[in-house]
Amino acid sequence: MPTPTHSFAAHAPDKPLAPFDFERRDPRADDVSIEILYCGVCHSDLHFAQDDWGMSSFPVVPGHEIVGRVTSVGPEVKDFAEGDLVGVGCMVDSCRHCEACEDGLEQYCLNGMTMTYGSPDRHDETLTQGGYSTFVVVSDRFVVKMPDGIDLKSAAPLLCAGITTYSPLKHYGVKAGHKVGVIGMGGLGHMGVKLAKAFGAEVTLFTRSESKIEEAKSNGADHVIVSTDEAQMEAAAHSFDFMLDTVPVQHDINPYLNALKYDGTHIMVGLLEPIEPAVEGFNLIFKRRVLAGSLIGGMPETQEMLDFCAKHGITCDVEMIDANYINEAFKRMQQGDVRYRFVIDMASLKDKAA
Ligand SMILES: NC(=O)c1ccc[n+]([C@@H]2O[C@H](COP(=O)([O-])OP(=O)(O)OC[C@H]3O[C@@H](n4cnc5c(N)ncnc54)[C@H](OP(=O)(O)O)[C@@H]3O)[C@@H](O)[C@H]2O)c1
Ligand SMILES: [Zn+2]
Ligand SMILES: [Zn+2]
Repeated sequence: MPTPTHSFAAHAPDKPLAPFDFERRDPRADDVSIEILYCGVCHSDLHFAQDDWGMSSFPVVPGHEIVGRVTSVGPEVKDFAEGDLVGVGCMVDSCRHCEACEDGLEQYCLNGMTMTYGSPDRHDETLTQGGYSTFVVVSDRFVVKMPDGIDLKSAAPLLCAGITTYSPLKHYGVKAGHKVGVIGMGGLGHMGVKLAKAFGAEVTLFTRSESKIEEAKSNGADHVIVSTDEAQMEAAAHSFDFMLDTVPVQHDINPYLNALKYDGTHIMVGLLEPIEPAVEGFNLIFKRRVLAGSLIGGMPETQEMLDFCAKHGITCDVEMIDANYINEAFKRMQQGDVRYRFVIDMASLKDKAA
């Protein structure tokens, strides 16, 4: 039976999100049905609701940092059972047979992953809808187990902010002896600081916001550079092995490239639009520097990241909100006024919608 589901949805790019009732599909044999408890608010949700990337279909229910409790499983599901605490991140399906899928890198599926919201379902072409909702149905390959004892509210943003920063740090082999710069301290950035520190690196936060200096240090940053201060930026020249760039809008990356050592790598995770001002070839060529990008992480790596975080006592700094605060939360996120992730308590949506 399809399940009636309450949600908050964007109905047009220039309209606030509003309550929206719809039905989740009939579960399939490999599906896990999940009552959503918490969902983080990622800057990508805002980009999508505003159609910043020109790929949104409306109405869209955002949300891809989902934690919930399993209510039932299909007959083919082996690894999950009713009552389990589980997570769902940015993807809910992929082709499952291409080279990337076989490598467990479903986010790079050569046939295109199915995103948690705003993608056509591979079986019935209906648009997927995300986690600002009371209930979701997801194929078991795209569900992860929440580690025992982890605080579910502050672990929800690990499903996107956590994996998006963990994956490139792991891929590039960040370890003790490396100097890592993290640019921007929002949801992704504060996780980047915590994770790079847990990987053993010496970590520097680059922020526009002097008010974040002390918090960055309490999150594990060894140093903080105020990026609007040219003298501080100049003094950082030729110092870093890696730069993790989480800034969501166009910005000049040349001063950050200049802060890399020779052979250093600048990893973009925030910006999808063209890089402007343009990258100066000189800044790459004369120091054999690498400009790279990275997208979330694969499903095996997402489970690995959750287990790593549980082992090291790492979660996100969260501000819990009711679902009907979402438009204010979007506004504050756009102004950089969130420390460091809003998480919706879905009980608020159930109560209000009932
Ligand atoms: N690659 C992926 O797989 C992936 C996954 C998730 C999200 N994303 C993208 O990553 C970006 C960051 O997401 P988020 O959720 O971390 O966003 P967020 O919480 O809003 O944080 C972004 C941070 O960037 C800095 N910033 C904001 N506006 C800026 C500006 N105009 N100039 C310079 N710095 C600015 C701010 O930090 P300071 O105040 O410290 O400067 C802000 O806190 C978004 O574009 C999102 O869509 C990508
Ligand atoms: Zn996200
Ligand atoms: Zn594939």
